[in-house]
Amino acid sequence: MSKNVVVIGTQWGDEGKGKVVDLLTPDISAVVRFQGGHNAGHTLIVNRKKTILRLIPSGILHTHVKCFIGSGVVVSPKDLFKEIEELETAGVNVRDRLMIAPTCPLILPYHTALDNARESARGSKKIGTTGRGIGPAYEDKVSRRALRILDLFEPEYFADKLKQVLEVYNAQLKHLYKTSEIKFEHIYNEAMSYADKIKPLVGDVSNTLHQYNQQGKNILFEGAQGSLLDIDYGTYPYVTSSNCLSGAAAPGAGIPPHSLQYVLGIVKAYTTRVGSGPFPTELYDETGAYLAHKGNEFGSVTGRSRRCGWFDAATLKRTVQLNGITGLCITKLDVMDGLEKIKIGVGYELDGKKIDLFPFGAHAVERCIPIYETWPGWKESTVGIKDYDKLPENAKAYLARLSELCGAPISIISTGPDREETIILNHPLK
Ligand code: GDP
Ligand code: IMO
Ligand code: MG
Repeated sequence: MSKNVVVIGTQWGDEGKGKVVDLLTPDISAVVRFQGGHNAGHTLIVNRKKTILRLIPSGILHTHVKCFIGSGVVVSPKDLFKEIEELETAGVNVRDRLMIAPTCPLILPYHTALDNARESARGSKKIGTTGRGIGPAYEDKVSRRALRILDLFEPEYFADKLKQVLEVYNAQLKHLYKTSEIKFEHIYNEAMSYADKIKPLVGDVSNTLHQYNQQGKNILFEGAQGSLLDIDYGTYPYVTSSNCLSGAAAPGAGIPPHSLQYVLGIVKAYTTRVGSGPFPTELYDETGAYLAHKGNEFGSVTGRSRRCGWFDAATLKRTVQLNGITGLCITKLDVMDGLEKIKIGVGYELDGKKIDLFPFGAHAVERCIPIYETWPGWKESTVGIKDYDKLPENAKAYLARLSELCGAPISIISTGPDREETIILNHPLK
């Protein structure tokens, strides 16, 4: 029987999902992206060589693995081929191993234009999006006017739909945001230039994954973003525009929910956030700067500085519940080496009441005052440790406390960016 794993971000993204997906790939046959778009930036470091993936699943460096982009993903053809060509230049064969669902909504230049126009208009209240057109593309999907990959193969139908969509977009861009209109020919010609290129990559992802399950092949579902950026349960409106929870893998890949046997929650040993929105345990002092510098906390997609703060167990308690986490993978433990004292957020005071579970929506989270426990740090280096017993005692105590507060066991501990720098306590696939 196959054993499938969902790898999910449990915080505000950038927890180290890419590294962990790559690490587990030797034991699986397929890696599937099921939501988000090229707003993701997943970093893989193998033998000190860095690869950053945005849309292509993080299994691509292993030649035995097939990679799939499911229907829940919004696809910019231009950025897809940019990434494919970058990988091919680096000697990675992508085209024979990638299949994309025909029903993926397209991200076209007007989505990016509207994303950026909206952000400018919001001024100090901007979401801090990645500017990749993700929100507008998902809006088109749910309002049932999206152009999808399969429409590229029917030029007349595509042209008709595009004319209708542009009426909506140009009215907004011209009258509301006072920016230039989008020209039909420009979008049409550019989109059509990708039709023949993308065609060989398009296939029935859902049915292929069904066959894989029947053949007992293991599948890994690679989440993007993080649970606190989830459109329903995150710090709305400071969220992304898709569901980023484990359950989203089923509709996003076209598989039944009982195909998801193991949910691996990736969690940074501290907390980071990129973009705007409330972050109760954020540090504005030299400790925050220390974590940002040591953890190299700069966005892999936009290069923006990531905000840093203490570990927040109330957020994890919520996301462990929402995702049904089977095991946790704690990443970047090594970044905390050398801290004299370490704080753990264990809950909040919200409107005069004590709570230990993350509330819903930005408005409530903004009013949360964190309650901390203080733990002793460790002086020793944990960089590259592969054996749990070799960890400093204070690091072990910190990890045990995190696990206890979150309500989930730890399966993996990451002690460096490289594939090899990992402690495996319980392998999700063995
Ligand atoms: P993702 O979006 O969740 O895949 O994460 P990103 O790739 O955007 O950001 C995680 C960053 O941390 C990358 O630069 C990784 O190379 C790096 N990283 C992952 N695990 C570790 C770790 O255990 N220690 C250190 N120091 N860096 C790590
Ligand atoms: P990975 O997969 C961290 C954030 C943006 C912004 C909000 C909405 O690498 O973890 P969007 O462009 O999606 O409309 O932006 O979501 N965001 C991420 N933050 N990691 C990501 O992906 C993110 N993808 C989106 O910064 O706050
Ligand atoms: Mg990232």
